[in-house]
Amino acid sequence: MDNIAVYADPKSPVAEAYRSIRTSIQFANIDQTIKTIVITSAKSGEGKTTVAANIAASLSLLGSKVAAIDCDFRKPSVHKMFGISNKKGITDLLLSHAENEYEGYIRKIPGSDIDIITAGQIPSNPAEILSSKSMKGLLGVLRRDYDYVVIDTPPVGIVTDASIISTYTDGTILVCSSGYVEVDMARKAKRTLENVNARILGIVLNNFIGEHNKDNYYYYE
Ligand SMILES: Nc1ncnc2c1ncn2[C@@H]1O[C@H](COP(=O)(O)OP(=O)(O)OP(=O)(O)O)[C@@H](O)[C@H]1O
Ligand SMILES: [Mg+2]
Repeated sequence: MDNIAVYADPKSPVAEAYRSIRTSIQFANIDQTIKTIVITSAKSGEGKTTVAANIAASLSLLGSKVAAIDCDFRKPSVHKMFGISNKKGITDLLLSHAENEYEGYIRKIPGSDIDIITAGQIPSNPAEILSSKSMKGLLGVLRRDYDYVVIDTPPVGIVTDASIISTYTDGTILVCSSGYVEVDMARKAKRTLENVNARILGIVLNNFIGEHNKDNYYYYE
């Protein structure tokens, strides 16, 4: 869990930045229910999974009941971030029509209260799975049972998956790795999300090019 600064180094500026993201989410929650939160970015490797894990951790440390689920069926990595197996995950759950018995698919890790559901076996049709009634049903039961569901997804500038899931979730956070993603591509990703009426909660600038990497998180509504 070394990449989860909120756990590994709670006093660090990075952990502090995640606490301010958490506060923004809580404020966004006043007017409208923000329970299911998609994390995406324009390109791959911008820090989506890292940001998803840290946001989930900071929400759960404040006492909220949090699920972190891996909907990046193309390059699943939530399990790697938490150091757990990806043997039984969302795709397996959906194949078994187990939306209402999802508890059997939850993994816990020592030192964390987050309930994790990994991606499961890599499917041939990720976009179809994300559009399916079963997937929406799963989100429905998770929304009933949790305060927050943090959802890791593939890059919205490359494949359609994050746009699809953003149509039936409450909010989307766009991670931008400054110095890595081209401004045009980041803008286009934002437009893509707006075009499906995603509610963009904010943009997390994840600037970790080179060694000046530790305290460069910003968040704005
Ligand atoms: N702020 C940061 N400082 C240093 N390293 C970081 C930071 N954010 C992410 N990384 C590292 O960058 C790499 C990519 O991060 P991550 O896997 O979170 O990105 P991703 O957007 O989920 O990638 P993918 O598109 O492949 O799913 C990882 O090795 C991660 O540890
Ligand atoms: Mg990832």
